[in-house]
Amino acid sequence: MALANRSLVTIDDLTNGEIEALFSLVDEMSDSIDRQSDICRGKVMASLFFEPSTRTRLSFEAAMQRLGGSVISAADASATSLAKGESIADMARVVGSYADIIVIRHPWEGAAKVAADYAGIPVINAGDGGHEHPTQTLCDLYTIKKERQTIKGLRIALWGDLKYGRTVHSLTYALARFGATILFRPGPGLELPEHVIRKLTTEYGGELNRYETLGQVVKEGLFPMDAIYITPSSPHQLAMMPDISIQVELKSGVDALYVTRLQKERLNATDEQQKKGKYPVINKKLLKEKEFKRTLVMHPLPRVDELAYELDADPRSMYFKQAARGVPVRMALIALLLGAKEVPVTEKDSFSRKIDYPCYRRGFGVKCSNPKCVSRQETETKYIKPQFKIVANQPLTLRCIYCEHEVHPGYIASSDWHEGRLSNKKYHSANSHWARKIRAENLIVFDSEIEAEACGFKPSSYTKMPKQKGQRKESRKK
Ligand code: CP
Repeated sequence: MALANRSLVTIDDLTNGEIEALFSLVDEMSDSIDRQSDICRGKVMASLFFEPSTRTRLSFEAAMQRLGGSVISAADASATSLAKGESIADMARVVGSYADIIVIRHPWEGAAKVAADYAGIPVINAGDGGHEHPTQTLCDLYTIKKERQTIKGLRIALWGDLKYGRTVHSLTYALARFGATILFRPGPGLELPEHVIRKLTTEYGGELNRYETLGQVVKEGLFPMDAIYITPSSPHQLAMMPDISIQVELKSGVDALYVTRLQKERLNATDEQQKKGKYPVINKKLLKEKEFKRTLVMHPLPRVDELAYELDADPRSMYFKQAARGVPVRMALIALLLGAKEVPVTEKDSFSRKIDYPCYRRGFGVKCSNPKCVSRQETETKYIKPQFKIVANQPLTLRCIYCEHEVHPGYIASSDWHEGRLSNKKYHSANSHWARKIRAENLIVFDSEIEAEACGFKPSSYTKMPKQKGQRKESRKK
């Protein structure tokens, strides 16, 4: 298996075939967890946790010790040189010269990618802000597969904080790739972010039907969903008749209910207002309904109030199994990334290839819209230049390569201008036909007319076009 020396930053760094192959190694290791102590003997894992953790950190450290390796750790950024202003890149380079593999959790979105870009050794993302938590998804998928033998065709409800829940984002992508139908039940104001929805619908080929189209029964019933994602493997008519089909879906039962706590530590002032609404709770009363008769109750933990303790003895409750499986899952992952184990991979589906979007790398004109992105942090801007994948041109949509939030720049120009006269150095609205006409390698984008003019471009007759959804209002203040 060609996993040796690779990093795991997002769940899309592994193909479905690689995940299945990893699970076969997890099965093998689970059966003999105390007989694996020669596999990584002499290897060192650096465990860098700059946000609180019980399960992820301790299961990674237990996994490395079970494999016969050793662990060096930093569990508090204030006790490292990050507190003196050291960049993540410098830290990663240095730790990369002390250890064989790095596991990192950091509050900035995209921090794990930066560490992976600079460490020179495999890096595993143990959670980067509200972005992704791919190894939790491996534990979640493995649990579903163990309990239900398959993921394809299952109806899986994601419940709670879908906005900031990084485990939800990684799991959503993986469920879509493996062909599940996903039912979204967010807390108030905590719907799935737009950039996650776009990736879901444009890259995994399914269809998302939103709340407004779902019909009163679903909206006001026991399971008031926000949206449903239907995979391309579902029957076509399901996607065509959302109201009826969703009732059919629910009547057939929910296979798994994946609950998350409110990620209080990530809320901003607007979220604080919305938080006053009712956060959904899973309890015995809800699980009495026939839709949940065989439902696996899942939670990445820690829980707060959203999952009642009265369910702990219920055979449907899976959350402590998910946590326990963290050790063999992470043992298998470490062994594969270190090249200490190999397993054959079979690719059975079309989700093995990532879309090769053109990149915008000019480093000026536009920055990531997400204040929590690593590319926006003072210590990191000295060496990180904003970079984006150009994922659509109508409206022009750039996806940050670090945190995956999207920006919709208002103005564009072409680097081709100099082939003509200086008077040809024009900028246009990003909503004009020029967004399709300018080749990706020549594209220059600007957030504002002021920036375009500061770079020597003059307005064309295609500068004033109506704003499209998602575009920011520009201030003309000088
Ligand atoms: N599930 C999870 O990430 O738990 P910890 O925050 O305790 O690591």
